[in-house]
Amino acid sequence: MTTKFRGILEWVKQQIEEEKLKAGDKLPSIRLLAEQFQCSKNTVVKALFELEKQHIVYAKPKSGYYVVDDYQTPSTHENGIDFLSAGPDQRIMPYEDFQHCINQAIDHYKEQLFTYSEHQGLFSLRVELVRYLRQLQVFTKPERLVITSGSQQALHVLSNMPFPNGKKNILIEQPTYFGMVDILKLNHIPTLEIELSMEGIDFERLENLFRANDIKFFYIIPRCHNPLGHHYTNDEKKKIVALAEKYDVYIVEDDYLAELDPNTKADPLFAYEPNGRVIYVKSFSKVFLPGLRIATVVLPEKMISSFVRYKFSTDFNTSPLSQGALEIYLKSGMFQYHLESVKELYIKKMKTLLEACSLYLPNYVQFTKPISGFYLTIFLPSHIDVEKLIYLLHEKHIYLDNASRMYLAENKQKAIRLSISQVNENKIHFGIQQLATFIIDMCEKKKYNPLSFKSYH
Ligand SMILES: Cc1ncc(COP(=O)(O)O)c(C=O)c1O
Repeated sequence: MTTKFRGILEWVKQQIEEEKLKAGDKLPSIRLLAEQFQCSKNTVVKALFELEKQHIVYAKPKSGYYVVDDYQTPSTHENGIDFLSAGPDQRIMPYEDFQHCINQAIDHYKEQLFTYSEHQGLFSLRVELVRYLRQLQVFTKPERLVITSGSQQALHVLSNMPFPNGKKNILIEQPTYFGMVDILKLNHIPTLEIELSMEGIDFERLENLFRANDIKFFYIIPRCHNPLGHHYTNDEKKKIVALAEKYDVYIVEDDYLAELDPNTKADPLFAYEPNGRVIYVKSFSKVFLPGLRIATVVLPEKMISSFVRYKFSTDFNTSPLSQGALEIYLKSGMFQYHLESVKELYIKKMKTLLEACSLYLPNYVQFTKPISGFYLTIFLPSHIDVEKLIYLLHEKHIYLDNASRMYLAENKQKAIRLSISQVNENKIHFGIQQLATFIIDMCEKKKYNPLSFKSYH
């Protein structure tokens, strides 16, 4: 029933997006939809009711269902092709369900709204999160969890607070999440880098860095890497943890897209040293709602009070309303249900993007080949003006990101990052075709010589 139900919702939304159904148009009858989707009329009625609740269609008594005239594709770049936005796909966000949770949370946690709540985060949410994290092979207890206002805050606090090893430098992969690069730059934190490609990192270099550079922690995105889409193997993760142990370096593991890993045997680094060497950071922005501003961090007990003090100095406490709503959402099983559709959709979109890149991009352009996640990076010939390329595409309503801000040093690599999270699946092929045309055009204008292009490895 559920897949047919979802199928009808998706179909109607798609028809509207593709303008096959316009404002004021009548939807096919319940009988026709039931025939088309091979389901009961009851399922169709439920789906139409859901669309009505979402204000996408409305019912005219004794006539049928019609498209509401102000319905819009809910992407930030509504009419374009959005490879830029990195928030979750709004078409599958369970607003209605979540509304119930918010309402319940207001009821349930009204006391906390009149006062400042627990600095470490609501204990009842931490209990729920401990249960949830088990599925990700993170076995811990509520006392070791701190709820933060997004994982960005966790990264900010960790970068600025002292660590038990008394060391000063932070090591990052290159490229890496730009939010982390910004924290390090803006706070003038001494930072070292290690190159990451789809083949992984150079372990000899990692060991040398760990041995000789007073490294406080190594910030690592273990899967669905932002921006490459890289995943470490379990053996590599074990090796990193063993080296961290050997040289007294902490690991900050940013597992922001753990849920999208199709490899069910993949462990987080945390699983190889759960006693505190690996600090585990889990955001709820990507698979759920960024506006909620909720993440959790699993710390060694000896770091809790210092972490909480640093966090307290920035915001006192994370919104109890957001915390309460997430707790109810997790407890009710709605989150688990939501995750299934999320996973399926993103894996499908990434497959389509890879297909389009292989088909249309010229062979002197290299791109990463993620198995899942939101991001894929395209490396461009060195003479291409990336800003200009982005501008020209923007004019055509195709949006993507310059990956240069994901590097610590400037102009390291000419690269663009594509995100599949909010792009409409049906527009991916066309978007990549356009991108390829612009790249080829720019190369031809420069009389591109393939032999002069240094390939990326
Ligand atoms: C790798 C990574 N870590 C952390 C964050 C921050 O997420 P939030 O603060 O919304 O939890 C992001 C956001 O894009 C990200 O890509």
